[in-house]
Amino acid sequence: MRRCIKLVFGSLSFIVALIAIGMGYLKLDGISRQKLFASVMYTMSDPNDTRIMNLRCNELLKHSTVKGHVLEIGAGTGINFPCLHNNTNIESYTGLEPNIHMHSYFYKFIQQWDIPYEIRLSNNSATDMHHIEANSVHTIIMTFVLCSVPDPLPEKVLLEAHRILKPGGTFIFIEHIAANSETNPFTYGFQKAIEPLWFIIGDGCQFKPMTHYFDAAKNVYSKVDYEYIDLPVPLFMIKYGVKGKLVK
Ligand SMILES: C[S@@+](CC[C@H](N)C(=O)[O-])C[C@H]1O[C@@H](n2cnc3c(N)ncnc32)[C@H](O)[C@@H]1O
Repeated sequence: MRRCIKLVFGSLSFIVALIAIGMGYLKLDGISRQKLFASVMYTMSDPNDTRIMNLRCNELLKHSTVKGHVLEIGAGTGINFPCLHNNTNIESYTGLEPNIHMHSYFYKFIQQWDIPYEIRLSNNSATDMHHIEANSVHTIIMTFVLCSVPDPLPEKVLLEAHRILKPGGTFIFIEHIAANSETNPFTYGFQKAIEPLWFIIGDGCQFKPMTHYFDAAKNVYSKVDYEYIDLPVPLFMIKYGVKGKLVK
């Protein structure tokens, strides 16, 4: 019995040590972290997951809302394309995706459609969109990106977005957010406890309240609307979300 307990705890310690070494390695090695994140995102992005795709396609990225010259911030593996590929209101699409290891997944995923408009994908960050002309974009879309943009840069992203949008142009988004520490102390505590690990696995993602960025945007945008939503995802710690729209 004693030998058995020793064996179980010995094996557990070994597994924990291996995970710790793996995490330490990923923390130091940005390229491996980005490659791993890209493959995790590709595996997790399921276009047949009807609940999340319904939120993306029928609530956020409706054909009547996404039109003209479209810019996507954090295009990832192209998981928004089931909502965009047959949108005849789109004139062109530019995706910004700084993690170049996502790019091959993006192209592989979208090749299943014969998309009628021009598609560009660049590795530029949305914090500096100097290569995009002011007042040139009709619609900006962004899904689950700001958690990976360190403070105070999300505010810069919203300002840059305002500069490149045409007057009347819209910026639509969904983000997952930190739970409210007063109404959901358990989930908030859990999010904070796993954040160091989440940061490494999620390539810099942190649990943040987010809405203060959108409140600050009221100083520059003509209209700022957002609402809290429950995200239809299996992991309870990422089910708190916010979706909204900024109008220039
Ligand atoms: C959690 S993934 C979401 C991907 C996709 N939008 C989706 O809905 O599944 C966050 C993405 O934002 C990208 N990202 C992070 N910082 C960025 C920045 N400063 N500018 C543009 N994209 C960024 C990451 O590389 C990653 O692909």
